[in-house]
Amino acid sequence: MQTTTISFDHFNALKDAQAHERIRAARAKLGSRAVLLVHHYQRADVYQHHDLTGDSLRLSRLASETDAEYIVFCGVHFMAEVADILSKPQQIAILPDLAAGCSMADMANLAKVERCWRELNEVLGQADEQVTPVTYINSAADLKAFCGEHGGIVCTSSNAPKILDWSFARREKVLFFPDQHLGRWTGHKMGIPLEAMRVWDPDLPNGGLTPEEIRNARMLLWKGHCAVHQMFQPTHIANWRKQNPDGFVISHPESAYEVCEASDYVGSTEYIIKVIKDAPAGTKWLVGTELNLVNRLAEEVKPEGKQVQFMSPIVCMCSTMQRIDPQHLAWTLENLAEGNVVNRISVPEHEARLAKLSLERMLAVS
Ligand code: 13P
Ligand code: SF4
Repeated sequence: MQTTTISFDHFNALKDAQAHERIRAARAKLGSRAVLLVHHYQRADVYQHHDLTGDSLRLSRLASETDAEYIVFCGVHFMAEVADILSKPQQIAILPDLAAGCSMADMANLAKVERCWRELNEVLGQADEQVTPVTYINSAADLKAFCGEHGGIVCTSSNAPKILDWSFARREKVLFFPDQHLGRWTGHKMGIPLEAMRVWDPDLPNGGLTPEEIRNARMLLWKGHCAVHQMFQPTHIANWRKQNPDGFVISHPESAYEVCEASDYVGSTEYIIKVIKDAPAGTKWLVGTELNLVNRLAEEVKPEGKQVQFMSPIVCMCSTMQRIDPQHLAWTLENLAEGNVVNRISVPEHEARLAKLSLERMLAVS
């Protein structure tokens, strides 16, 4: 039964302990009707309430498999959109704070990608026959729909090599957006020379490239990045290795090419956790990804004598994901328990249909 929505004003000033108590009470009332999907970067006070965790790929699969009526996504906006697109029509995806966006995802938008496509058409003739558009999952639903419509696909940091194989098997070039770093590192691992990967600056005509540069490129890398992962520098790795010559370095592929090149291992959040958990006792690790994940992992593997250190001397967290705090989670769940849906993420139907096409292509390939 629906009641009047409870205002967030009643939750804003809640002490954390009270918020946790109310989260637990609301969850007990909701039972299996609500599932909490929580990304690895989520702050510890929210992470502790998870039902399921994962990287972007795993969370997409989990969202497509759950039968819960409410999918409460403690992550960022694009993740909740994917949950809405891949879940059944009667299921409801919710983001506890609508301000939890992804600053990298915001670096590409449909108007700019469509302009890029028009310019590629002018230079290459038929872009749809020569270029596969590949969007990183960190992007808005309308960009996933664009890829669905133009024979393209979605990728995540854990399946990017397979997705590029799929893409190059169909067309000779790839337009990769919005993260140039994931695109460059993946292309490099596939043997594509750096000179054949050109940065496309969406604010310049023809991406700032000459027609010849566009014709010669194999990959066009959108000029986008994650601010969190740009904090890591090769000098951090070199300094640490001097102190820890027997240690290992592991980074997320959103880091700069030079950081990935200087690392022993590169992979998604799920991969980073697995590699360190599976490593022999007593090993030392320098980790280039978000701080909440690194702090949690360091505590988890400490009993085995493993040392895990964050790569940057500067604190860098995903500040947008941080916006989901126990107060917003308590507010969301209490409203759901009272029959009021708040902060629903609902992708328009025509957009969802095309976006689903590119997401399903991805799930089939990975
Ligand atoms: P993962 O898919 O590796 O979890 O990465 C998501 C992300 O946003 C990293 O910044
Ligand atoms: Fe986006 Fe970077 Fe946050 Fe990942 S860490 S969600 S890419 S802003």
